Amino acid sequence: MSRIRKHLERLHPYVPGEQPKARGLIKLNTNENPYPPSPKVLAATQAAVDDRLRLYPNPTAQGLRVRLAKLHSVKPENVIVGNGSDELLALATRAFVEPGRDCVQYFTPSYSLYPVLTDIHKSRRHEVPLPADFNLPTVQELRRDKRWDFKAALTFVTTPNAPSGCGYATADLDALCRAQKGVVILDEAYVDFAGENAMALATKYDHVLVSRTFSKAYSLCFQRIGYFVGSAKLIEALDKIRDSYNVNGLGQVAAETTVKQMPYYRANFRKIIELRERTTEQLAALGFQTLPSATNFILTKPPRFAARTWLTRLRERKILVRWLTDTRVKNFLRITIGSEHEMAALLRAVKAILKV
Ligand SMILES: Cc1ncc(COP(=O)(O)O)c(C=O)c1O
Repeated sequence: MSRIRKHLERLHPYVPGEQPKARGLIKLNTNENPYPPSPKVLAATQAAVDDRLRLYPNPTAQGLRVRLAKLHSVKPENVIVGNGSDELLALATRAFVEPGRDCVQYFTPSYSLYPVLTDIHKSRRHEVPLPADFNLPTVQELRRDKRWDFKAALTFVTTPNAPSGCGYATADLDALCRAQKGVVILDEAYVDFAGENAMALATKYDHVLVSRTFSKAYSLCFQRIGYFVGSAKLIEALDKIRDSYNVNGLGQVAAETTVKQMPYYRANFRKIIELRERTTEQLAALGFQTLPSATNFILTKPPRFAARTWLTRLRERKILVRWLTDTRVKNFLRITIGSEHEMAALLRAVKAILKV
């Protein structure tokens, strides 16, 4: 007799990118930031490792919410902080979707956690394929196509998208949000590397939440801090069902200090964006077809060998990139933009594999 719920036995869990134990690998597979947190963030976090570890942290991450509210010109009641944005995406599924009745809608390919959250919640996946160029369809196109559900209880939009890297215009997202009846979550995990962001829609519409994370742009994957901005009513519903102490104390300290150090991080965004464009050009000269990216990674179709073979050959040269098995992207490699030194090593390895 199984003691596990039947639908969990069949569930395919989320597969995170590899965190290798072997030393000396250049890690370009999980979109981490190549630059360390600001020295002030490191100092503040280290200074917080004292007798306080005995105590529970602030249950609502109040100090951080106040800072984030100021940053985005909203009130603290418009902000909820989570143990990574992944936690909040899961809470949203639980808060806004009636299991067994409602559907969760998203484009494919996009963030591969959404189907897993839908399955865990025993609700219906409503997947709508993006066009061949991975651009965001217009509302008229979605209406014509008839597959999009404008009444979906919950819609996730990864913007800029992952794994395509494709940036979406705020005006187009605005039109889409306006047309939706249910809750829309604009997952802006990579937005700091894009030309524009859609934060204004979180205050314009009371059914829109914008999701952000400190993981990618703010070099804090290890601390697990993400947040949503949106109407007080939606935030309150999420707040009701989160764990009392969902955000660890050191993470709160690190993130609060991060928000005070924006010039340091903005300089890093500029470096990563510049290197992304340069790498795209250098790879193009070697026969790689790279999609335009508004993120800290590129999705690129490699020449000569299958993408899977490239994954192995690069790994033999101690470079770890991501190959995703989804049929729409299986001919591509997803490569995180690392440091100057790491990208130079990538190019050397590519040239060696191509023997040029
Ligand atoms: C689109 C997208 N959203 C959210 C996340 C999760 O970020 P966090 O580290 O805040 O949980 C990721 C991480 O890979 C992502 O790619």
